[in-house]
Amino acid sequence: MDIIKYLQAQGIGSRKECRELVRDGRVLINGAVPAEHIDEHGVETLHINETAYGVMTLPYFYLALHKPENVETSHKPSHYPSVFSLLPANVQRLKIQAVGRLDADTTGVLIITNDGSFNHRLTAAKNQVPKTYRVTLKHPADDDLCTRLRAGVLLADEQETVAAAEAVLTDAHTLHMTITSGKYHQVKRMIAAAGNRVEKLHRTLFGQLTADDLPVGQWRRITPDEVW
Ligand code: URA
Repeated sequence: MDIIKYLQAQGIGSRKECRELVRDGRVLINGAVPAEHIDEHGVETLHINETAYGVMTLPYFYLALHKPENVETSHKPSHYPSVFSLLPANVQRLKIQAVGRLDADTTGVLIITNDGSFNHRLTAAKNQVPKTYRVTLKHPADDDLCTRLRAGVLLADEQETVAAAEAVLTDAHTLHMTITSGKYHQVKRMIAAAGNRVEKLHRTLFGQLTADDLPVGQWRRITPDEVW
């Protein structure tokens, strides 16, 4: 692949900026000054002006982020910084989207990608991709709560009941719940409909993927088959 095109595709800058960086010898790929054409699949490290950049696989890349509290899953946040501000500047310049949303106060695994059809596959209702949450409950609960959630609860402003695929209490205030749909504020509304209240919400799994092995606010590259 042409080196200039490669750098542009990594969000490094405009064609002109990338050409100048290469001309001035300020780009290193795998520790060496690159040739005019490179093997884009063989790039392990990319340094510009001696600074390391996150290298994204082309044409599509997939990231798992351990979302902290008080960041918004939006490119145009209204109260808190954007979740995308946690990614390197070059990645922020690319056309990236989160796979579904987490509320500003929800923590845990969030997938970010530039692959629209993968994103659609994971969020399409018919595919029923499981998402598991650790819910800290305001009021102590017993198995009756789990039974109600598994049987299905009627959400405010909805016509049909929605059921949890799994609901297990590990103590009176900690519920592990799996859902296979993705309605607005779904977990909080289901818990409210079942007569309790969410104090804290953490997504432990999206499909098979967790971010609990990452420090809060950190991300890593993933492959689609890690998710689903
Ligand atoms: N359900 C919610 O209520 N909030 C989230 O962030 C995710 C699922």
